[in-house]
Amino acid sequence: MSFTVDQYQIKIIWQSLRPLVAGRTYLLRRGDQELLVSVTALKYRQDQKTGEHLSAKKLNAGESGIANISTAQPISVDEDTNADFDFVDLQTSEFLGKGHIEFPLYRATNIRWQSLTVNKTARAGAKQQQPRCIWFTGLSGSGKSTIANLLEKKLFEQGRHTYLLDGDNLRHGLNRDLGFTEADRVENIRRVAEVAKLMVDAGLIVLASFISPFQAERQMARRLFADSEFVEIFVDTPLSECEKRDVKGLYAKARRGELKNFTGIDSVYERPECPDLVLDTCSYSVEECVEQIIHYLFPAYSGE
Ligand code: ADX
Repeated sequence: MSFTVDQYQIKIIWQSLRPLVAGRTYLLRRGDQELLVSVTALKYRQDQKTGEHLSAKKLNAGESGIANISTAQPISVDEDTNADFDFVDLQTSEFLGKGHIEFPLYRATNIRWQSLTVNKTARAGAKQQQPRCIWFTGLSGSGKSTIANLLEKKLFEQGRHTYLLDGDNLRHGLNRDLGFTEADRVENIRRVAEVAKLMVDAGLIVLASFISPFQAERQMARRLFADSEFVEIFVDTPLSECEKRDVKGLYAKARRGELKNFTGIDSVYERPECPDLVLDTCSYSVEECVEQIIHYLFPAYSGE
């Protein structure tokens, strides 16, 4: 039997020293075909010796497991001949592990994309603006939310239609079930990026303020949008300065060992490699940073 769908159950044999994380997006390589693949659920890890099914959110090098995947476009699988593929790192193109497609997920064969008459262009036209996702990344206390907040105020005053998605706020609702493990942060950013995409589709200028510590998820977010729609802003405040400011007292808590997995202390922050804009909050005020963003976004706009 052959299938052409975008969701499958697969077997994974992981080989990279960087573990596979449930929810993360990778590159699927099969022959000369390459496309994005998300591990939507890691169903279980298989114990090498006993074959026992163990619950897991990660697969380490040498481990194997069963997972559901979703591909960016439907792929054709002819059970016996082309069910094998490689997982490849999105940034480095490094080989990470092997996948073997077992069967298509029933639900994927029953969901089609519904095309709608009123589209993004029409909605944006009604608002007379170019919809965008302005993504702020940086350490906790770096100033992301303060800058995003003032930027939204200014855009709003200019008559633009905006919405601000903020990490702390979303974790009270949509993401209240998520903590700060790597897998939870991956899922946090996946959900938020999808919400931002819907809002951009609605014609809005979306400001997203999240630590978003991993390059892979920032890259995943970028790939959801057209080139000119996504702007990555790195709020580059050094750890020492964030810790000195410690507005929420969380760094002190983390140093006392009362808060685990705190970004910059015992959880990594991967600096953006090529952000669209870098803000130096030690040298410039919040006002000045916002001016820099407005200048970047609307070069022709002359200000007040
Ligand atoms: S992210 O890493 O998944 O992008 P997000 O931006 O949603 O994080 O949330 C970060 C906010 O949660 C911080 O500004 C801080 O107020 C709070 N917080 C609570 N625990 C942690 C932690 N362990 N690491 C980082 N931030 C934390």
